[in-house]
This record gives sequence, structure tokens and C-alpha cells, in this order.
Amino acid sequence: MTVTTPAVRGVTIWFTGLSGAGKSTLAEALAPRLQALGKRVEVLDGDAVRTHLSRGLGFSREDRDVNVRRIGYVAHLLTRNGVFVITAAISPYREARDWCRATIRDFVEVHVETPLAVCAGRDVKGLYKKALAGEIPSFTGVSDPYEAPEAPELALSTEGVTVEQCVERVLARLRELGYLSPESTHSPL
Ligand code: ADX
Repeated sequence: MTVTTPAVRGVTIWFTGLSGAGKSTLAEALAPRLQALGKRVEVLDGDAVRTHLSRGLGFSREDRDVNVRRIGYVAHLLTRNGVFVITAAISPYREARDWCRATIRDFVEVHVETPLAVCAGRDVKGLYKKALAGEIPSFTGVSDPYEAPEAPELALSTEGVTVEQCVERVLARLRELGYLSPESTHSPL
């Protein structure tokens, strides 16, 4: 019997971290680098997913878990077809992330570990100010939990490091894990 496997092995690169940690920025910077290496790439960003696939969901634990599992399920479908999927959602609960890990299997968890004080200091969307003033209930890191990964494939500190350096670290880890060939050090462009 012939077993068909996709010609190219896919993987999901799962960024997790606080709001404003830099997940979306890293996802957007990583995507073209992988494309330049000939990979088919899809980015599933929390904010974008919440306007489409998860429209209407809020930020209770239940709603976040539904959101994260939806992202995980779509990532699973794409990954098994050879796509390099990059996700960027807070995904604060370990259990839901571990469900995604078990479902997707080719799963590289990257903890973007920008500390709360730095995220709140940047406050790109002005949400921390409101959350700290009690105007947004259940805000991750302020009045809602964030369960950091215990054994991520990569823990990424973003302080004093450029986006480009972070992307290089992710690419290096993907090479170590066998998702990119060792000679793919530089993009062919
Ligand atoms: S997750 O918890 O379900 O993974 P997701 O990444 O999709 O969250 O969405 C997080 C984004 O929603 C934040 O970056 C922020 O812009 C916005 N947001 C609005 N309310 C909250 C809240 N209570 N907690 C965290 N993020 C919130």
C-alpha cells in the first residue's frame, strides 16, 4: 500500500505572550523570510481571527479557549498540508496550547517573554492604561492570568534585541528541529 505524505513537511510556529509583547510584529517579519526560503506560509493573528473566525467571542476563559482551539484547528489543517503556519494570539492557558500541540504535532512553541512592565510601558493600543484604570475587565496580565509555557521550544526575550535578531533565532531553532535545511542560513534573494 502506498502511503501518501505531503512532499514538504509543514509546521506551526506558535507565538504566545502578553498583549503588546511583539507576537504580531514577529509573525509579520518571519513570514517573508520563510517565503523567501520557498515555504508556503500562512499567518493566523489573534486580532484578525477575532474579526472573522472568532467574531463575537469575548475574553472569558471559555471564549479564549474556543478562540485558541479554532486557531489550532485551522493551523492543524494547514500544517498537515505542508504549510508553515505562524500564529500570534496571547493564548494564555497552558491546557488549550497543549491541546493545539497534541493536535498539530509539528508544533514549535515560541514564548515571546516581554515582561508585563515593558508591554504596559509601550502600551501600543492604549489598552493597558484602561485595564489598569479598571475600565477593561479580565485583561491578561493585569486582571486575568497568563500561564507561561513550561517547556517552549524557544523562549524569546525581546528587550534590547531587534526584530530581525528575534527572527534569526526562530529560524535557527527551526533549523535545529529539522524544519528548515541546515544550508538555509540566508534567503536566496
Ligand atoms: S486570546 O487570549 O484569545 O489568545 P487574542 O490574542 O485573540 O487573545 O486577542 C488579544 C487582543 O485582544 C489583545 O492584543 C488586545 O488588543 C485585545 N483585548 C481586548 N480585551 C482584552 C482582554 N481583556 N485581555 C487581553 N486582550 C484583550
